Amino acid sequence: MVYVELLKEKESELTQYEIKELQEEVRRLAREKNAVILSHYYQRPEVQDIADFVGDSLELSRKAAQTNADIIVFCGVRFMCETAKIVNPTKKVLHPNPESGCPMADMITAKDVLRLKEEHPDGEVVAYVNTNADVKAVSDLCVTSANAVKIVQKLDSRKVIFIPDQALGNWVKKHVPDKEFIIWQGFCPPHFEFTAKEVQKLKELYPDAKLAVHPECHPRVIELADFVGSTSQIINYATTCDAKRVIVITEVGLKHTLMKKNPEKEYIFPESMNYCGSVYCCTMKGITLPKVYQTLKEEINEVKLPEDIIEKAKRPIIRMLEMST
Ligand code: 13P
Ligand code: SF4
Repeated sequence: MVYVELLKEKESELTQYEIKELQEEVRRLAREKNAVILSHYYQRPEVQDIADFVGDSLELSRKAAQTNADIIVFCGVRFMCETAKIVNPTKKVLHPNPESGCPMADMITAKDVLRLKEEHPDGEVVAYVNTNADVKAVSDLCVTSANAVKIVQKLDSRKVIFIPDQALGNWVKKHVPDKEFIIWQGFCPPHFEFTAKEVQKLKELYPDAKLAVHPECHPRVIELADFVGSTSQIINYATTCDAKRVIVITEVGLKHTLMKKNPEKEYIFPESMNYCGSVYCCTMKGITLPKVYQTLKEEINEVKLPEDIIEKAKRPIIRMLEMST
């Protein structure tokens, strides 16, 4: 494997043959080193295809907690790698691109959370898992888009401080009307900025299609949807519903799994429409096959967190895993 340095320079131009060769080499290394490769659905298709497991945020945190592998290569954004480290601190967790963070996670700091707690001492801080480790460390409970409504419904406290995603916060609030919500105004740029007007155009073009959207989308987009759910919930809905065509408003990486699971259907993602924008997460796509290869081969880009942060951040994550079984 002398070509990896070259591949790094032209990773977007790999031939099918080079991709296959590199994928085989990554799998060989994973076996040799007893490494498990985890991938989020928003990853590039060629990265998803080398993973031992592809899943949504909740499924991936469960897998990370359960694995017996010595090394976890996490193909996702930074908060996901941190979660894997927090639930399994003795393992070596490698992040193929340490620069791949989540812009929404960076929209709130631990200091902001402490101030919110001071202002609302009777509130419970519910943190979307898309938060940095130090923010989790000062939160009471984590949720993902797959379990947020169910978990918040189970809480005893009447006041919920929901951070950092306003879209998911409003979605949960709608389903839990008996609680008071303080909602932080963070958002996921790719999902939140996709407009209802663009969705209407797609609906007019495909009047027979069902519309499935992620709860990180703008409330006006959510209003138009036939189904709202996390990535794995969308997969389940889109591949099994009656409609032959489904318009899907979430990150385009999901199309790969949909096509694999049920190629009989047509999945319409906005990126294919030249008059629409797209829902494309640049940081998720910052993980490339050559980066995965180099990271595993050289065992670089290890995720490191201070011990006290691991200890404190573990509580809200474990509480979530227990409450969502
Ligand atoms: P889920 O996989 O939980 O649906 O989350 C989507 C997301 O934006 C992760 O960053
Ligand atoms: Fe963050 Fe949105 Fe990208 Fe998910 S899709 S990692 S929430 S920016």
